[in-house]
Amino acid sequence: MLGGTTEASALARLLAQAELRATLSYAGRTDNPRAQPVPIRVGGFGGVDGLAAYLRDHHITHLVDATHPFAATMSANAVEAARRAGVALIALSRPPWTAIAGDRWTSVPDLPAAIAALAGPPRRIMLALGRMHVDAFAAQPQHHYLLRFVDRPAAPPALPRHILVVDSGPFTVEEDVGLMQAHEIDLILCKNAGGSGAQAKLIAARTLGLPVMMIDRPALPQRMEVWRPDDVMAWLGHAADRGV
Ligand SMILES: NC(=O)c1ccc[n+]([C@@H]2O[C@H](COP(=O)([O-])OP(=O)(O)OC[C@H]3O[C@@H](n4cnc5c(N)ncnc54)[C@H](OP(=O)(O)O)[C@@H]3O)[C@@H](O)[C@H]2O)c1
Repeated sequence: MLGGTTEASALARLLAQAELRATLSYAGRTDNPRAQPVPIRVGGFGGVDGLAAYLRDHHITHLVDATHPFAATMSANAVEAARRAGVALIALSRPPWTAIAGDRWTSVPDLPAAIAALAGPPRRIMLALGRMHVDAFAAQPQHHYLLRFVDRPAAPPALPRHILVVDSGPFTVEEDVGLMQAHEIDLILCKNAGGSGAQAKLIAARTLGLPVMMIDRPALPQRMEVWRPDDVMAWLGHAADRGV
């Protein structure tokens, strides 16, 4: 199981309950990955070749790609490595968010487009992106950025005007409304992750009438995809509700 998401953790619980042999793989992006009821491994495999070799060496029969919808490299590698190793693959994902009445969203296709779209007078922006991509926003140094990271980074972000909050979700709508008000945020920039874990900021933005710049999902190769951990259990031949 390729993890790093709430869905992967939920599936790990079901797999452990069903006493299936499973390993959960983390990229190693956070300092303290959450404890899991199945064995974990941490770190990249070394591209498609490395993952295909891992699948063969560990006699893997089923590969579940439960990575984040923006983990496009890992997901593409999973499709190709599973094909090469002759392993069955399924993706456990979530539907993208869609705007409803009261939302003020604009869409951009990717991160470079988001950065380009920020040209203009200074704003106070909540950058809900994770630490990997934040330094690229130094190209628009006129803005004040609010950052929220799971861990304190080794080096401070390369943004001249920013405030860093170290905290891990899920957050409530009340918490996010409070954060946006406390920092006088006038724009939220985020990825269209989907799912409920990171949705509070969107409801908070709607509540406060704030605009959201939404980065669309990256393109992924064709693969079988489901949205519920139970559907993966069914695919594995283990109906979760029977607990067998
Ligand atoms: N991108 C996001 O916005 C986001 C948000 C929340 C959580 N995450 C989680 O963070 C992790 C990294 O995401 P990313 O966007 O950096 O991925 P990515 O760009 O698609 O992957 C880059 C490289 O990281 C390694 N990798 C990624 N996921 C892995 C996993 N589950 N187990 C082992 N190696 C992994 C692979 O290295 P090798 O080529 O060496 O195998 C992969 O080629 C994923 O587990 C993802 O679910 C990502």
